[in-house]
Amino acid sequence: MRAHCSASATWGESLPALRADTPGCEQVIHFNNAGCGLLATPVLTTMLEHLQLEAQIGGYEASASRAAEVREFYVELAALLGGWPDNFAFASSATHAYSTALSSIPFERGDVILTTRNDFISNQIAFLSLRKRFGIELVHAPDLPEGGVDVAAMALLMKEHRPRLVAATHIPTNSGLVQPVAEIGRHCRELGLLYLVDACQSVGQYPIDVEEIGADFLTGTCRKFLRGPRGSGFLYVSDRALAAGHEPLFIDMHGANWTAPGAYTPSRTASRFEEWEFPYATVLGCAAAVRYAREVGIEAISRRTPQLAARLRDGLDAIPGVRALDRGEQLGALVTIAVDDWQPEEFKSALDAQGINSALSFRNFAQFDFGDKNVNWCLRLSPHYYNTDEEVDQVIATVKSLRQ
Ligand SMILES: Cc1ncc(COP(=O)(O)O)c(C=O)c1O
Repeated sequence: MRAHCSASATWGESLPALRADTPGCEQVIHFNNAGCGLLATPVLTTMLEHLQLEAQIGGYEASASRAAEVREFYVELAALLGGWPDNFAFASSATHAYSTALSSIPFERGDVILTTRNDFISNQIAFLSLRKRFGIELVHAPDLPEGGVDVAAMALLMKEHRPRLVAATHIPTNSGLVQPVAEIGRHCRELGLLYLVDACQSVGQYPIDVEEIGADFLTGTCRKFLRGPRGSGFLYVSDRALAAGHEPLFIDMHGANWTAPGAYTPSRTASRFEEWEFPYATVLGCAAAVRYAREVGIEAISRRTPQLAARLRDGLDAIPGVRALDRGEQLGALVTIAVDDWQPEEFKSALDAQGINSALSFRNFAQFDFGDKNVNWCLRLSPHYYNTDEEVDQVIATVKSLRQ
């Protein structure tokens, strides 16, 4: 039975059903939702049924027979994030969505990308690759003393450099920092600057409105806080960016029509950013995951999940030899800690042995942030709404016992 957590139900009432819907809850304390959330049964069933159908009637025939359900992927994303179904493209990962968006920008030598010091590792590597190949310039806006980007300073840099692209990550992989992406977006819109937002860690955790953010492009995955399958991502492309003619460098027969021996026309919608081949079971699983998140209620999730994380962060920070690293005005469900006297893999393995799922981040994930914090690694614990206070307390107690 599906439990909804709208105004009519409290978490106390709905949690047992939500956990019963999540078989993994019986096996592990899953505090690695920032890596990949636990699948809910309706999502798993949707995917298994489609694979069975492929085996029974053929892969092409199965996708043709489920065309209406496949369309729901786009409908659900628009209902979750704003925009229209035609503004969304499926991608095999958030990184793939990001690089196809980048490839649609005709960078020239001397163009500036303005970004922040807390951007995702692969985005930064892509920018450096653009610099190596096209001679673009990369400018990083400074942080505030309390953490998080200084939006006023970033706005001045926008005016000074007139960047070809402004890029920000809503929540980076290596800390709980929530960046003020809508504030940055307001400046981009005022100045008519192209704006790319990485919402990989925030989608499914917080309400997101692509129009309020003012993004031209926004990328995400379904596997983390949306609790969808691995091997999935999506790209939002605004009407503005579509009308301006942005199309990926390697557009294929799905994204474009080969109209004459020497000509092609890109599709009218964000499908121009997709590839012809789709993992249909995954796409259907993503649609089911977004529907599930909307039914649980994103507003309710955005209240509960950071609260669980705050309880965890405070409890861990109080342990001698453990330091919570997250800084910034708003903190989400990624809790990062430095632990004295342990090696990273050994510490994570000790938690694994207790059935606690976590993740490690290293200096190369966060060259600026970890440099500022003077750490070479951290352990990341990321609870989600289906976790319990008791699990939080158990993890705190386990970390405490490992430190003694
Ligand atoms: C902030 C952020 N952006 C992008 C990504 C990349 O997502 P994917 O692995 O789907 O390419 C991640 C993955 O951890 C992430 O944390």
